[in-house]
Amino acid sequence: MNRLWSLEVVFLLCVTCCYAVKVVDVDIICNSATNHSFCSNLLNSKIGGNKDLVSLTEYSIDVLRGNVSNTVNLINKLIEQNGGNFNLTYHYNMCLIHFDITKGALGSVEYAEELFKMRNYLAMIPTMESIVFNAWECLSGDTPSDPPYHDTSLLPVYADVVMLVANVVLSILKYLTQA
Ligand SMILES: *[C@@H]1O[C@H](CO)[C@@H](O)[C@H](O)[C@H]1NC(C)=O
Ligand SMILES: *[C@@H]1O[C@H](CO)[C@@H](O)[C@H](O)[C@H]1NC(C)=O
Ligand SMILES: *[C@@H]1O[C@H](CO)[C@@H](O)[C@H](O)[C@H]1NC(C)=O
Repeated sequence: MNRLWSLEVVFLLCVTCCYAVKVVDVDIICNSATNHSFCSNLLNSKIGGNKDLVSLTEYSIDVLRGNVSNTVNLINKLIEQNGGNFNLTYHYNMCLIHFDITKGALGSVEYAEELFKMRNYLAMIPTMESIVFNAWECLSGDTPSDPPYHDTSLLPVYADVVMLVANVVLSILKYLTQA
């Protein structure tokens, strides 16, 4: 009985251990990304430490959080600078809702970090998809019939980076959740 128990514990430890150190080549991960070169640049920029799927997920979530925070800060600055232009402030306020902490991307990144700590990688997938969708909504305007808002600020570039990084996380999760 006791012996069986310890065998089971050893078995569980082994499963946890092997799951945690699953390694997939960056080139293969990035084959399912929307932008292969962006994906491999990002994942190869991880200096030192482990390159297994769990470590790469943690690394790219950290990058995503930084990029989403930068975007929120940029939007707040743009709202301040364009106070006189009604259309622009309207557009930026819509983008702020898509990116901020309550309903937007920043809240989703924090939720994804909690899911990551709990190793609930499967639930991270819809969370990343909602971040891609939030960024897309900010870029594409508020109604489908509208042409994309002609925004000459850095915001479209920032929102695009957020979409690409969230997509890289999705590409890693695809392999991580196959284990
Ligand atoms: C892919 O990402 C690179 C940056 O790594 C960028 O220069 C290039 O324009 C992107 N291509 C597309 C189609 O978005
Ligand atoms: C996104 O994050 C990376 C890594 O921290 C940084 O190099 C890059 O400048 C950031 N880009 C934006 C638009 O925030
Ligand atoms: C604001 O948008 C309306 C409706 O699209 C347009 O008619 C108006 O010219 C715009 N105003 C400015 C200052 O761009």
